[in-house]
Amino acid sequence: MPDAAPAILSEFSRRVIAWQKTNGRHDLPWQQTADAYRIWLSEIMLQQTQVQTVIPYYGRFLARFPTLEVLAAAPLGAVLELWSGLGYYARARNLHRCAQTLVVERAGKFSANPQENAGLPGIGRSTAAAIGVFAFAGRAAILDGNVKRVLARCFAIGGTASPAQDLRALWALAEALLPERDVASYSQGMMDLGATVCTVRKPACDACPLRTICIACRDDRQAELPRRQIRAALPQRSSRVVLLTDGRRVLLERRPPIGIWGGLLSFPELSGEAPDAFVLRHGCRLLGSQQLPAIDHTFSHFRLRIEILRCDVEVLAHGVSEDVLEWLPVADVAAAALPAPIKRLLLATPLAA
Ligand code: ADE
Repeated sequence: MPDAAPAILSEFSRRVIAWQKTNGRHDLPWQQTADAYRIWLSEIMLQQTQVQTVIPYYGRFLARFPTLEVLAAAPLGAVLELWSGLGYYARARNLHRCAQTLVVERAGKFSANPQENAGLPGIGRSTAAAIGVFAFAGRAAILDGNVKRVLARCFAIGGTASPAQDLRALWALAEALLPERDVASYSQGMMDLGATVCTVRKPACDACPLRTICIACRDDRQAELPRRQIRAALPQRSSRVVLLTDGRRVLLERRPPIGIWGGLLSFPELSGEAPDAFVLRHGCRLLGSQQLPAIDHTFSHFRLRIEILRCDVEVLAHGVSEDVLEWLPVADVAAAALPAPIKRLLLATPLAA
């Protein structure tokens, strides 16, 4: 961390707090509460997803699971259903596990001490701090993606040979800048600045309360800070799946709990088997088949090309033998726990023969 004089540190937080009070966001749904359950839920949903996307999911989730106890008692499939389309489903699985852990081991309560919440499923240091600040009026430093960008630009952090070293510098700075009072306004202000002013592309430096302190603004280095990590090209994988339908329903398979799209319903895979054999094995007779355009989907660690064979069938034997398979009525597709690209494809494909 560069040596920043104490006067700059307090001036920094003073400006962020004043800016948040007049220009920050005040009416986000999770700002109307200090309920730790609601704050926690919002922070998990916001970890990899933008505010505008999260808002409707947050409302639906709370309507179905109004308390931590209700969430802990629900089946994972019901949680995934309400998460369907938000992506990064490990978040939903961790959320469910975290709720169960809290109910079983901690009387259903979060601690006011962030260090005791950090390490629960899905809760890292920054999320634990946000819960401490927003639900318990505590004093702890947050460092999510938006805050990292504001700090990296303002103090020109980044570009050492070691990303881990940059991260340590950012945490040290986040701790050093934390004001004694008004921590909630300050923390919300940092996130709001990152989301609305200090954006990745075309930051609105003219509207920024930190413009006279910011090194990136002074030196015109906004585009190069924070330095993007150079990632190796993602490996490419492919899979062949079957959209099997009798015109009213579609045959889906629940994916194993661990791994991509864990716990969600998706198309069954066709691993090398001939389509008519596959169809027969599932108690159906093949009427016709058609190759649909492939879906390309990027996961955090690889890209997947999904080749889809549509098989229109007549059902010969009712009831599928394996409990991972499920005939989903077409009318239920919109509400089912399906990965977003699969749901989009099904909603856009007329299934009646
Ligand atoms: N991102 C993470 N936490 C947030 C919050 N409380 N408000 C807006 N965006 C956020």
